[in-house]
Amino acid sequence: MGWQAEGPAGAAGAAVLRRAPLKRRDLRPDDLAVRVDYCGVCHTDLHAVRAREAGGAGGDPLPLVPGHEFTGVVTETGPEVAGFRVGDPVAVGNIVDSCGECAMCRAGQENFCHAFPTLTYGGTDRLDGTATLGAYSREYVVRERFAYVLPAGLDPAAAAPLLCAGITVWEPLHALGAGPGTRVAVAGLGGLGHLAVKLSVALGADTTVITRSRKKADDARRLGAQGVVVSTDPEQTAAARDRFDIVVDTISAPHDLGPYLRLVAMDGTLSHVGHLGPVTVETLDLLVGRKKLSSAGSGGSRATAAMLAFCAEHDVAADIELLPSARVNEALDRLARNDVRYRFVLDMSDLG
Ligand SMILES: NC(=O)c1ccc[n+]([C@@H]2O[C@H](COP(=O)([O-])OP(=O)(O)OC[C@H]3O[C@@H](n4cnc5c(N)ncnc54)[C@H](OP(=O)(O)O)[C@@H]3O)[C@@H](O)[C@H]2O)c1
Ligand SMILES: [Zn+2]
Ligand SMILES: [Zn+2]
Repeated sequence: MGWQAEGPAGAAGAAVLRRAPLKRRDLRPDDLAVRVDYCGVCHTDLHAVRAREAGGAGGDPLPLVPGHEFTGVVTETGPEVAGFRVGDPVAVGNIVDSCGECAMCRAGQENFCHAFPTLTYGGTDRLDGTATLGAYSREYVVRERFAYVLPAGLDPAAAAPLLCAGITVWEPLHALGAGPGTRVAVAGLGGLGHLAVKLSVALGADTTVITRSRKKADDARRLGAQGVVVSTDPEQTAAARDRFDIVVDTISAPHDLGPYLRLVAMDGTLSHVGHLGPVTVETLDLLVGRKKLSSAGSGGSRATAAMLAFCAEHDVAADIELLPSARVNEALDRLARNDVRYRFVLDMSDLG
């Protein structure tokens, strides 16, 4: 049972998912069956539902069941599964398979698989060619290789968003060397952004939030940020010019990168992980200060396991608003209005 976008229907602008029975594949030898307990609501889910609604009435769109950051309990294991037993707590993110052979996969960066990783929803199963259906659902079947042991001590509801939002900001922070002595800024204080702040603070970096929302300033400090720059205040942005070694841009809407590049220090990097799509860059914004523009997405299996261990050790998890899954459409609509502090998580127990 799960929450499915039935077609390009619905009142204008409102997300509409309906309760529907879902079929999961029979277990393969290296598969786990998972009872999904908690699934985070990522802005990518909203983009996916909206894109489908905008697709018009024509054609025969594939079924869409969003949800790609979840925790639950193993309910069944295939005969080759070695790392999990029935009853174990488990976590899954937004990649459920990859080619396993290319240089990226061999390096544990399955998120960059040359044959493209299989996404948790909206992907195509590599063996049977069916569309993958996400975890706004009570059950999921996943290869053991893409399932993670949920460390003891992490609350399963608050940990669910680590599997997409968390790992998406962890990889660039880690790769760019965030830590003591580095100055990190996080643009956009939402699901990704608030976890970027917590992770950056836990890594020991001097951390600043760049937000449009003046009223989030107190939250930013409570999350551990030392500084706040209100992006709509020209005096504050001018004062922050060339200040940060790393700017992690998690903004969910298309936007001009110029104002954010100007906040990057000489030889520093803007990592653009939020809204994906074409961007226009004024070369001079890179030239002046020899700045770098980068991106990242999701995470490889090694980084994901390392991030979960780090979060358990440093007590990092999402600030969540937990809702019964039946309120999924309300969660999506409020997310669209930037009305969330800071991640909705759906409790799937109302699905049976
Ligand atoms: N690279 C990846 O693999 C990956 C993975 C997950 C998500 N994403 C993408 O990352 C983005 C963020 O996801 P999320 O779940 O964190 O979303 P979210 O919770 O809605 O947070 C986005 C934040 O962006 C800021 N923002 C929104 N509209 C803006 C605008 N027009 N101008 C400036 N700032 C704006 C807001 O922060 P303030 O109120 O502080 O200004 C908002 O809280 C989405 O586009 C999502 O699809 C990418
Ligand atoms: Zn996501
Ligand atoms: Zn590969």
